[in-house]
This record gives sequence, structure tokens and C-alpha cells, in this order.
Amino acid sequence: MTATSVETKKAKSCCGPECCADEAPKAEAAKPAAAPERMVAEVREKYGRIAAEGGSCCGPNSCGGTSEVPVSLGIGYSPEELAALPEGANLGLGCGAPLAALAPRRGETVLDLGSGAGIDVLLAARAVGEEGRAIGIDMTPEMLKKARANAAKVGAWNAEFREGRLEELPVASASVDAVTSNCVINLVPDKSKVFAEVARVLRPGGRLVISDIVLDGALPERIERDVYAYVGCISGAALRERYFGWLRAAGFAEIEVLKDVDYLAMLKDTAPEEAGAVLERTGTKWEEIEGRVRSITFRARKAA
Ligand SMILES: C[S@@+](CC[C@H](N)C(=O)[O-])C[C@H]1O[C@@H](n2cnc3c(N)ncnc32)[C@H](O)[C@@H]1O
Repeated sequence: MTATSVETKKAKSCCGPECCADEAPKAEAAKPAAAPERMVAEVREKYGRIAAEGGSCCGPNSCGGTSEVPVSLGIGYSPEELAALPEGANLGLGCGAPLAALAPRRGETVLDLGSGAGIDVLLAARAVGEEGRAIGIDMTPEMLKKARANAAKVGAWNAEFREGRLEELPVASASVDAVTSNCVINLVPDKSKVFAEVARVLRPGGRLVISDIVLDGALPERIERDVYAYVGCISGAALRERYFGWLRAAGFAEIEVLKDVDYLAMLKDTAPEEAGAVLERTGTKWEEIEGRVRSITFRARKAA
């Protein structure tokens, strides 16, 4: 993580625990493991609100109300990539820049899991050209509406956005060359189902590059039970060994971590008020969680 990226996270932490604190999720202290569909509903509501209200977390005056561009440069997008996007496609919701490592080729079909307002689908559509396709899946209608409008703005007719859940992809088996996803799988209660679905839709030998949050150590139960921490991409995250175990069980090999950043240390340094608030609310000490929440980007391949 460069100094720039740390600085830009300070500007806006859309996946931070206190984002949207003025619009509290309804399920107070629901334990995610005990109420998975309730957490999915919270996630859909939160991201629907973000899509409806514009480019910042909860509207232009929340979360610092700063530009998405420096945030995205900080997590790895190039200025050239960002310049190619229509306004509103980049909501600053990712935790990495997986598409560059995925390197889509002309003519390929690329699938983006949890496509938001379309940032990675539109970049993939450009890379695969007219003979290829880029497909985004999202469960939030407001995000899909925004993504389709963004594709129309740039005439990306090879980009398509489908409503659906990552646990049951509306995609034909063995129809996709490459899969990507940016800061989404941590929000899905049953991650093993997601990887099984990715294996089903990828062609033999197909590849993936994903950015996501994983845990290097369990979180205190007080944070695990916190809804803000769940929709803020922290407590929905799985232990790294379990996460990669599910990936391997789904039939993936050649797993390689390309980037590994201490997500909460970054938050502590750069947005101490946000980090402090989640600790205070849940009565947690820094030492109990330090180093455990990781923002990673990894690649893997389905057996040929
Ligand atoms: C943190 S945002 C990331 C959006 C996009 N990848 C980006 O980088 O801007 C998470 C997105 O995943 C979607 N999502 C979360 N859980 C999902 C699920 N189980 N099935 C389908 N979409 C989901 C949300 O609606 C939201 O648009």
C-alpha cells in the first residue's frame, strides 16, 4: 500500500464501519451467522441507498464527501482507466483493482460479481472489444439501473447487467472465460456457494482475479455481531484459511495472493474517528483486532 493509497482511504472509506452512521441499519446487533438473509437485506438496502443518492457513501455530505477518483487511484486503478469511465460508474466502493491483473483479452467473456454501478464491467467491456462480452451481476435494483445507464452513456453495447445473487448466478454453465469481483464476497453469508457457482460458470481452465476482505484471526464477538461492521465489509469477512479452503473445494488451483493490506490499520491511521467509533460502540480494544482484517487481491484457475 503506497502513501497515496493510505491518504486516499482517509478521504473516504465507503466500506468503513461508520459509513452511513446517520442512517442506521435496522437490525441492531443481529448476529450474521444466525440471520444470513437479514444481513443480505441490510446490504441490499445500504447499497441501494448509495446508488440512489449518488457517488458518495450516503450522499455528497457524508463520509467526507470527497471525490471517488483519488480513492480509486489509491487502490490501484490507473488514471487512464478512470478517465475512460462515465461519471457515476465509479462510486469508490472497491478495495482493490482486480481487473488489471485479470487482463481480459479481446473476444473473451468476463463476469463481474457484485458489479455496483459498473466500474469493472465497463473497463472489461473496453478490453474485450465488440467480439467479447462483459456481464455484471448484482442483487440491488438501484445499482443495476445506474450501471445500465452508465453503459448506455459510453455506448458499451457489449456490457450487460443481470439481477441476481452470487449464490445462484443467472449465468449458463461453462460460458465464461474470466471472473472478477471487487469487495463483495465478504458481504455474502455463504461464500462456499459463491465459489461453487463461479466454478460452474467458468469454462475449464478459466481464471479469476478477486479483491476482497479476509480475516487473519477471529474478531471479538461484539464486532462480529455489529451490523455496521457487517455492511461495512468487516465482520462478514471469513478467516483466510476457510476462505481459500472453500475456493480449493470448488475446484480452483494456482491460488496466488497478489496484494495483502492491513485494512483496519489503514483505517486507524487514516480515519481514526471512524475506527474509534466502532471500537467504542462495541467496547473493543485495538490490540484485540490489530492486523486481523486484510484487504487482499488474489488469482486462481479452474482445472482445465
Ligand atoms: C461494496 S459494493 C462493490 C461494488 C463494485 N464491485 C465496485 O467496486 O464498485 C458491493 C456490491 O455487491 C452487491 N452485492 C452484495 N451482496 C450480493 C449478493 N449476495 N448477490 C449479488 N450482489 C450482491 C451490492 O448490491 C453492491 O452493489
